[in-house]
Amino acid sequence: DRLFMPGHHYQKDEVIQFADARGDSLKLAQICATMDKAEFIVFCGVHFMAETADMLTRPDQKVILSDLRAGCSMADMADISQTEKGWVKMQEKWGDTILPLTYVNSTAAIKGFVGKNGGACVTSGNAKEMIEWAFTQKERILFLPDQHLGRNTAFDIGIQLNEMCVYDPLTNEFEFEGDWDSVKVILWKGHCSVHEKFNIKHIENLRKQNPEVKIIVHPECTFDVVQASDYAGSTNYIINAIQEAEAGSKWAIGTEMNLVNRIIDENPDKKIVSLNPFMCPCLTMNRIDLPHLLWSLEKLEQGEVVNHITVPEEVSKNAVLSLERMLERS
Ligand code: 13P
Ligand code: SF4
Repeated sequence: DRLFMPGHHYQKDEVIQFADARGDSLKLAQICATMDKAEFIVFCGVHFMAETADMLTRPDQKVILSDLRAGCSMADMADISQTEKGWVKMQEKWGDTILPLTYVNSTAAIKGFVGKNGGACVTSGNAKEMIEWAFTQKERILFLPDQHLGRNTAFDIGIQLNEMCVYDPLTNEFEFEGDWDSVKVILWKGHCSVHEKFNIKHIENLRKQNPEVKIIVHPECTFDVVQASDYAGSTNYIINAIQEAEAGSKWAIGTEMNLVNRIIDENPDKKIVSLNPFMCPCLTMNRIDLPHLLWSLEKLEQGEVVNHITVPEEVSKNAVLSLERMLERS
């Protein structure tokens, strides 16, 4: 009971076999928020997830990430100074009409910024509900750091593409042609380098070769890919949809490869392929491997806490607000 090891679905099989709980980012955040027994939480996932676990557990509970290189390229696309600079520009343009929402795939500092400004976190599993909630609070939203999840979900609830602009943190400029007053969603120009590797050509080729195939993708994929697919939804949605599908049905999945391979193994009665035949796993998720995991556990056994993930109190006090606003609506 002193040790708990949560594992994200994108972790390698060699690691996930030892996880005490397996889940997507929402489920893992919910589990950590109620995990009051464990003294040590060895998080099998990426850095932003370990930070979230630290903020949702008591100060005496220690969160460990066995390889500190397990980051997230999407989370790295929004840093706090860029966000503060962009926010000033947005306030000048639209005044106090914007509520910030951040995908949990972001640093604790961004979550703190969002919490301080009345906003909340979202995950792929609750993005729709959270965007709907945000519009009960303010006229507009800033959605960061994943433009694709923001665009796909906003479109899903009826917001048109010409009501969304893109903010580029590298140039501090907006990408938009239209009426600025009609903008409802400001999308941060960030993306997941894994899910951007699916494209329309993959869908066209598959449909040509196999007209019966059903295509299911994660909403971190581009708008075109999501629109051309049959289904789009969170990690849990994809896992459940395939589990519940008819035996013999044919599927192509557009998401991270460790998970796709696991879904293939766990559903031998269906014919499943990756939407991109040359897809790789998420490189940073893959940093957590058996040697690193073993090293951190052996050190723990010797009484040494290595790679301890801690979020400073001045950041976490606001970041927790954004996480709690999400958890109470999920
Ligand atoms: P979810 O776990 O919210 O589906 O997110 C996918 C992902 O990219 C995690 O890094
Ligand atoms: Fe980040 Fe994408 Fe990897 Fe998830 S799959 S950890 S969003 S780079």
